[in-house]
Amino acid sequence: MMKYIVMMSIFLVVFAYFVYKPFPKGAAEPWKQSMVATGYEIVELLGFVSETLGLTSHINVTRWITTMSGLVFTARNTVLVSEELIDGVKVRISRPKNVHHTLPGLMYFHGGGFVICDPGCMASVTDLLSEELKAVVISVDYRLAPEHPYPAAFDDCLAATRHVIQHADRLGIDKYRIGLAGDSAGGGLTLSVALKLSSNLDPQLAPIKVIGPIYPGLQAFDFRLPSYIQFKDGPSLLSLRRMAMFYLNYMKANTTYLTAFLSNTHVSKSLRQSVYASRVSPKLLPPRLQTYSEAPEQQDGDEDVSNEIQSILLDPFFAPLMSDDATLKMLPPTCVLIAELDILRDDGFLLAERLKGLGVQVQLLYYEGYEHAFLSFVDIYSGAANAVHDLAKCLSQYL
Ligand SMILES: *[C@@H]1O[C@H](CO)[C@@H](O)[C@H](O)[C@H]1NC(C)=O
Ligand SMILES: *[C@@H]1O[C@H](CO)[C@@H](O)[C@H](O)[C@H]1NC(C)=O
Repeated sequence: MMKYIVMMSIFLVVFAYFVYKPFPKGAAEPWKQSMVATGYEIVELLGFVSETLGLTSHINVTRWITTMSGLVFTARNTVLVSEELIDGVKVRISRPKNVHHTLPGLMYFHGGGFVICDPGCMASVTDLLSEELKAVVISVDYRLAPEHPYPAAFDDCLAATRHVIQHADRLGIDKYRIGLAGDSAGGGLTLSVALKLSSNLDPQLAPIKVIGPIYPGLQAFDFRLPSYIQFKDGPSLLSLRRMAMFYLNYMKANTTYLTAFLSNTHVSKSLRQSVYASRVSPKLLPPRLQTYSEAPEQQDGDEDVSNEIQSILLDPFFAPLMSDDATLKMLPPTCVLIAELDILRDDGFLLAERLKGLGVQVQLLYYEGYEHAFLSFVDIYSGAANAVHDLAKCLSQYL
């Protein structure tokens, strides 16, 4: 037994040495962040090995591991958790215990690049939000790509949201106090659903009070924004390649387009000069973020790829930053949470800046020294718990 433990320990130390990821300068909690990054590396390695051995796909390995890690989270004794099927969509509901009057509601859309995860991945965050906001949080288990490409995830989130607004009474929710939030891919879904509901306002449907996109992914038009250049190889979970793979899966495009995505040539020259380019222009960013860490030498776009994916790439429910100003202007007050060391940093800033320019109430919650998806480690990073607290405070001002 002892021999076994010693051998396992040696193996783990050697293994950790090879996958150990130091964190860049400026990390807020470097030791913990390195450990998390190493965890991601191990998952990547297992995915690669099992795909190479022909056992199962990289995506499925990642899904299993994230589901398993979701199971070990610590439940909070202040919230009651249940699962339901609403309008054919599975949801996980967190409700403050021992409260019998109606409460505000928050729809929540988890992240995972439209490809992995489920409400379990963000259970610590949604339960904490329920406790801090004193709200019923409904986390949607939407269908995932590539098995269910766009618009499956969007359709599920929209259907669940409509259902909750229409049947708020039954759920103990005040239909005039409903907000939307989500992280990463789910931050994009937050915007898509809010845009759909605010632009097609159905008089029967009470309006959304507030939205809280958390380091959202909002566009696949320009992969050469300053943060895309600066963080193309990480740190931690996200990289340009991963983003490109997520979007390719979600749009169900031919994976041979990966090369065009990586070189940012998936958009034709004429599109690059169109009004769509102006909606994600780096010139909209705060001046201090406009510097490129590497000169963006841009080759001409591949017309064939561009034509093939154009309709989806410019679809505002696929990529919310493609919306025109008149539509964006109809959004409710917005709390945008952004991480500094994140390839998606500029997507968040573009949203905040455009909304500000249009007179929409927007609060920016910016976390220096943190990476993409840091809220997932709310039980590990002290900064993540603070960020959830700040987000709850911001949302509650409008809810
Ligand atoms: C994951 O596994 C399931 C069941 O074996 C399979 O149907 C599905 O196609 C796999 N998905 C991916 C992306 O490999
Ligand atoms: C993807 O594109 C390649 C090269 O153009 C082509 O050979 C292949 O058949 C395409 N695959 C699919 C699934 O359309």
